[in-house]
This record gives sequence, structure tokens and C-alpha cells, in this order.
Amino acid sequence: MTASRRAIRGEIVSFLDDPRRSSTALRHIPDGIVLVENGRIVAVEPANLLPALDCPVADHRGCLVMPGFIDAHLHFPQIDIVAAPGEDLLGWLDRYTFPAEAAFSDPAIANRAASFFLDELLRNGVTCGAVYGSVHAHSIDALFEAAEMRGMCLVAGKVLMDRMCPPELCDGPDSGVQACRTLIRRWHGKGRLRYAVTPRFALSSTPGQLARAGRLLDEFPGLLMQTHISESRREVASVRALFPAARDYLDVYDQAGLLREGAVLGHGIWLTERELARLAEAGGAIAFCPGSNAFLGSGSFSCASAHASGVLVGLASDVGAGPSVCPLDSMREAYFTARRLGERFSAFDAFYLATLGSARALRLGGSVGTLDAGMDADIVVLDPAATPLMARRQTVAKDFEERLFALMMLGDDRSVAEVYVRGVPRQQVLSGRTVN
Ligand code: GUN
Ligand code: ZN
Repeated sequence: MTASRRAIRGEIVSFLDDPRRSSTALRHIPDGIVLVENGRIVAVEPANLLPALDCPVADHRGCLVMPGFIDAHLHFPQIDIVAAPGEDLLGWLDRYTFPAEAAFSDPAIANRAASFFLDELLRNGVTCGAVYGSVHAHSIDALFEAAEMRGMCLVAGKVLMDRMCPPELCDGPDSGVQACRTLIRRWHGKGRLRYAVTPRFALSSTPGQLARAGRLLDEFPGLLMQTHISESRREVASVRALFPAARDYLDVYDQAGLLREGAVLGHGIWLTERELARLAEAGGAIAFCPGSNAFLGSGSFSCASAHASGVLVGLASDVGAGPSVCPLDSMREAYFTARRLGERFSAFDAFYLATLGSARALRLGGSVGTLDAGMDADIVVLDPAATPLMARRQTVAKDFEERLFALMMLGDDRSVAEVYVRGVPRQQVLSGRTVN
């Protein structure tokens, strides 16, 4: 059998490391080629260095060829309540989120939402994500089946909660963790799929459920763990009252055995220095959700503090609390957040976080998040001149960094010119052709 080969040509932009830590992190090739064989990248070179190619070449000159975006934290049952107005976190959960998630008791609704959700991610250049399902196990079956059909790399888990939620969304004393075990056996490590044990947050799980979730992580190697932490001040105060024996919010998860490599904590706005240091020591990560933080008025996450403590950070939409699945929108909000805090935040920082930063947070940095030989060929092609104003702005930019910055500030889904999942173009992915 001949190997399926294709070449993707354009202006290559990719990070080999965090640009805040390394001055050589950026790989920028103004006219480059990504050579793909059987879904994997085999070479990334300037076009003039590659000999005549004996395979189809997708010519994206004039566009940026980047690793597909990775959303480090979002909720697929919330896709239908995105942009629900005017509440703080806890009010928003009661008023909008729980009713939307309750609708997922119908597997047909979950199935339809899963397909729409993944197609919408791809349309926005997002090729991978860490996704929360509803409390229903079948929501994760629906999502993983849809991801498998599209050949996507995905992390997901059913939400665990056994208190402070409507009765129809409440796990039984052991039934939630038992349902996870079944899902893990069925899906974890199957192709590009990974399971994340997903206690919603400390307020909605009893200490018993949190501890059972911690023991589950010991049972199966390579699982991820995702939850929320220190998102709103009211939430932090409630956790303090509910767990008087814990040193702080992070300690609740630590005592339950949830804190370890592969733990991805959403938000983390109000974490103390001790908590950040402990999180870094444990090898956990924060999913920075700037759109959601602004939307719910939760506060401003300090990337600089997280960076100083050595914690891994990925970028996330937190849809449906975040109003957009488009990573360019999240990057722009991240920039505004930094401005409010008086911190610097470059376009390089933003694109790193949305690609390799998120990949590292999800412990997927060995296969996605960067364009390099041996990596999976998940790729987004961005048109930096997608609108007349963007085109005009590009022509006066004095250097590459300024062009990238203008793309981040002015771009949205109109800039997503093409997406490849393991080298397969989006339209073919949508029609179910996951192999070239
Ligand atoms: N905290 C607990 N659950 C949620 C959720 O669904 N969204 C957000 N933003 N925060 C949460
Ligand atoms: Zn969330």
C-alpha cells in the first residue's frame, strides 16, 4: 500500500517551547511546507529546501499555517446556552446551566449536540479540546463517538456531582464513579481519545465522591483530571465554609488525591501563592478562561503570576460561560485581561497558549500543539487579511509580530481558511472521510 502523502504550503508559525522561557521558541518560516504522511508530519521545511514533491500540494500562500488550536476547557452540553445574560457564576449555573444539562438525559439530544459541537470547534480551527460532558454517561459516549468519526484528538469526561444540584443531575453515592469506570474501559486510550475524571467542583461533590474520584485516578494510568477552582469570590468563600479542615481551595482537591500530573484546573483566578506553588509542584495546570471570566464578571486571571510560579497554563473558552469557541476571541480577551492587570501579553504568548501551552497542560505535547516531524498533522490555516480592514492593517505592519498581533486583535472565525485533522481537510472530515 502506498502511504498517503500531502504537502501543505504557507507561512509556517509554530512554537517549540514557551516564548516567555525561550527566545528561540518560535519557528517562523515565511514560505514553508509541512509534509504529511499517513496523518503524521514528516518534515517542516522552507519550500525552497524541499526537492520537487511527488504528492498533492495544498497551496495556502498568503495565509499562516499553524498547529490546530487546542481548547483546554469547555462544556459541550452548554453549547445551547452560550451567551445567556447577566448572572454571576452560581446564579448562572442554577438559572441556565443545570436546565441545559438536564436536557441531556435524552441521548438523542446529546448525540445531535455532540456532532454540532465538534463541527463548530473545527469551523473555528479547534482540532482538540478538554471537554466536560453532562452527568449522563451517554453524553460522553455521544461525544467520543463523534470525535472518533472525525478522527479528532479529544479529552473528555462525564461530570461528577452528588450534591447542590437538581436531583435529576445528582450521581448516587457510588454510581457516578462506577459509570466513569465503564467509560474509561470503553474509551480511554482508544485511538486519539483520553478520559478525564471530571468532578464539577468542590461545591457539587461530597468529600466521599472527591475521594472516590481520586482513587479512580490510581486505578488507570494516564487519566486526566479536570475540575474548576477559585473562579468566583462567592464560590471560594462557600468552599471555605464547606471544607473547614482544608488549608485552602486547592487543598480540598489535594486531600482527595486529585492533584497530580494531568490535573487541569479551570480558572484559578483567586489562587494564593501557596496554591500556585503547590499546583506547580504537583505538575497540574490551569486552564485560563479569559472570555468566561469577563462574561461572568468572575475576575482577572494573572498569567504573569502563574508563569512566575511555574504552573503550566493553557487557553480555554469555557463555553458556555465563555461567549465564543473561537480561540482568536479568547486570545483577545486574554490580552485585555493582561492590560487590566498591567501585565505584558504578546501575540506570541497568546498563540503559544492556544497551541502548545494547551497541549502541555493536557499532557498531549508529544503529539499535538506544534508543527514538527513526528507530530500528528492537526493544522489550522489562518487568513490574516480576511476582511478589508484586516488586509489594510497587514500591509502597514512593520514586522511579523505586529502582523500576528493584528490578527489576534481583529480576527475571528472568518480568518479560519482551512483546518486539517491528521492531514485530512475539514470538508472531508465532516463527510466522514478520516483517512486520505
Ligand atoms: N463551576 C462549576 N461548574 C461550572 C461550569 O459549568 N462553568 C463554569 N464557568 N464554572 C463552573
Ligand atoms: Zn467550565
